[in-house]
Amino acid sequence: MSEVHILNHPLILHKLSLMREKNTNTKSFRELLTEISMLMGYEVTRDFPTKTIRIETPIREMEAPILAVEDIVIVPILRAGLGMTDGLLQLMPAAKVGHIGLYRDETTHTPVEYYCKLPKESVDSEVIVVDPMLATGGSAVAALDFLKQRGCKSIRFMCLVAAPEGIKVLQDAHPDVDIFVAAVDECLNENCYIVPGLGDAGDRIFGTK
Ligand code: PRP
Ligand code: URA
Repeated sequence: MSEVHILNHPLILHKLSLMREKNTNTKSFRELLTEISMLMGYEVTRDFPTKTIRIETPIREMEAPILAVEDIVIVPILRAGLGMTDGLLQLMPAAKVGHIGLYRDETTHTPVEYYCKLPKESVDSEVIVVDPMLATGGSAVAALDFLKQRGCKSIRFMCLVAAPEGIKVLQDAHPDVDIFVAAVDECLNENCYIVPGLGDAGDRIFGTK
């Protein structure tokens, strides 16, 4: 079974509370999400392997650790996952970015795919899938299905707020994919929105409501 890492650092929780507040405007919401993504990225990458190389400091030579990963690919689930991408790119500027376009059908709440474009390196990369909301889990499961069909092997999933229902669905479908989340909320409502949640993440990031 995959691990659920709850990244409840005080700075993350403080910023998340500001995001949840319904009067927080689009600009602030977006900036906070970028800041939280950077903070979460620090933990999401904690087990990345390192190797040492010989370097020369101004004082003497030393064996210095550097990352030993082939490539890092960040995969936002469109649209809202885009809001978590810049923060991670600030930490890992050489990372590649793949995109998976999914939206939830408003009646059935099941995911509908409309776009998928991945870097060719994805197969041998450390892949970080990002989406602020894990509600029913349908979108996350579908995105991970696509990635595995295309050969990706090492995948982790990073989200901001999750419902317990979504975590269970994701763990059952992809027991090899660790989940990194800032807060696990109470439940889903009748429209499959997370309660208390923060509303529609895509609309709040892009100002479409
Ligand atoms: C939201 C969110 C997730 C999905 C989560 O996207 O960003 O992708 O819902 O819900 P689920 O766990 O029940 O699948 P939405 O479908 O609203 O699309 P958008 O990002 O384009 O607004
Ligand atoms: N998608 C969102 O943007 N918010 C939710 O609460 C659930 C799904």
